[in-house]
Amino acid sequence: MRAALETPGLLSLAAGFTDNASLPVTALSEALRRVIVQAPDRGYLQYGTNAGRSGLRAGLAGRMLRQDGRAVEAEDPAALARWTERVFVTNGSQQALYLAVQTLCDPGDIILVDRPTYFVFLDLLAGLGVEARSLPVDAAGKLDPQALRNLLAGMRADGSRARLKAVYFIGWFSNPSGRTVRVEEGRALAAALRAEDCVVPVIEDAAYREMGYELGSASTRAGVLSDTAWDGFPRLYCGTLTKPFATGLKVGFGVCDHQAWRDAMLHVKGHQDFGSGNFVQALLEDAIASGVYDDQLAVLRRVYREKRNALHAALVAGGLAGLGWRWAVPEGGLYLWLEGPAGLDTAGDSDFCRACLREGVLYVPGALCHGDAPPRHTVRLSFGVLSPVGLVEAAARFCRAAAAFGQSIRRA
Ligand SMILES: Cc1ncc(COP(=O)(O)O)c(C=O)c1O
Repeated sequence: MRAALETPGLLSLAAGFTDNASLPVTALSEALRRVIVQAPDRGYLQYGTNAGRSGLRAGLAGRMLRQDGRAVEAEDPAALARWTERVFVTNGSQQALYLAVQTLCDPGDIILVDRPTYFVFLDLLAGLGVEARSLPVDAAGKLDPQALRNLLAGMRADGSRARLKAVYFIGWFSNPSGRTVRVEEGRALAAALRAEDCVVPVIEDAAYREMGYELGSASTRAGVLSDTAWDGFPRLYCGTLTKPFATGLKVGFGVCDHQAWRDAMLHVKGHQDFGSGNFVQALLEDAIASGVYDDQLAVLRRVYREKRNALHAALVAGGLAGLGWRWAVPEGGLYLWLEGPAGLDTAGDSDFCRACLREGVLYVPGALCHGDAPPRHTVRLSFGVLSPVGLVEAAARFCRAAAAFGQSIRRA
């Protein structure tokens, strides 16, 4: 991102920011008017509670229950109140992730992460001195339960099993891979952990859950809190209203069914921030209740579907597949995950990265997205920020760099 800011004309396929043109200015100004006019006690400008506004928490609990196929509970006041109790509002889901790790781990502890995974989460772990180990996957990126059992057995044998404190994975349209964990895959993960006597806390990251672009897409899978395969595991579900609505409001949330863990996270949160911003919570509470949040989601889904298609088509047109590159078209999220030809090095200090910079395009090296044993030939391309026209130009530059680089390798 620094390179993008400092180099005029550089097109960034790296930044994880959202589409500027479709940010919900009108929807928010309506919510703003309603909040200010309809809440004459001005409580929205006062400190709030540590866990957040109860109306917003109830709205979030209801949304999650409906997405998990539990509409009856979402409509039942007593059930909704029980779930609302488990929700806490945070400064983006990033804060919920941080609280989770901070309350579970000491330096030297281990968390299992998906492969590849969210690189800021890996940074967070490194900052707290926690080791990331990758969940074993097959060539298609699907969890390999037997390999996981072998890994856990090995950890028991070498004594590191005692330091395993949690499992983290991105449930839907992953950053960076675009993958969604399928129902049977999630259950196989739970079963393998249980079979190896590892009923450790599980953290499911739902940052992109609402950003599915195809009808009937995988976003309909129930999350860990609703899948009985995970019963008995302490569970934390981290969601956000940033990517699917307005990144600048920076409101996220956690839903945790384990009271002692939830209390510990709230305790630390109280020390960190004394409660999240009450005013933005009031705006979002209104946006969800009034339906403008869902209207905005419908807009974003159309915008990002178009952008994803533009980037994919431009990479195809640029002949990237013929140069030995492979990628899947994700059903949601903000990223394409590309595998380059075997032997290619895409790291930040590689010749390939320099070739892309010379062409004027930036990407995220895939090696950053691995807890261990990173492959060097993958890249993450984001279609969040650039316009469709910008994406086409950026893709053309990327393909030119890939072609020139392929030729120079063949000559060598
Ligand atoms: C997988 C994933 N989780 C969590 C976050 C944190 O997002 P926020 O703090 O805006 O909710 C991001 C942001 O890029 C993300 O990609």
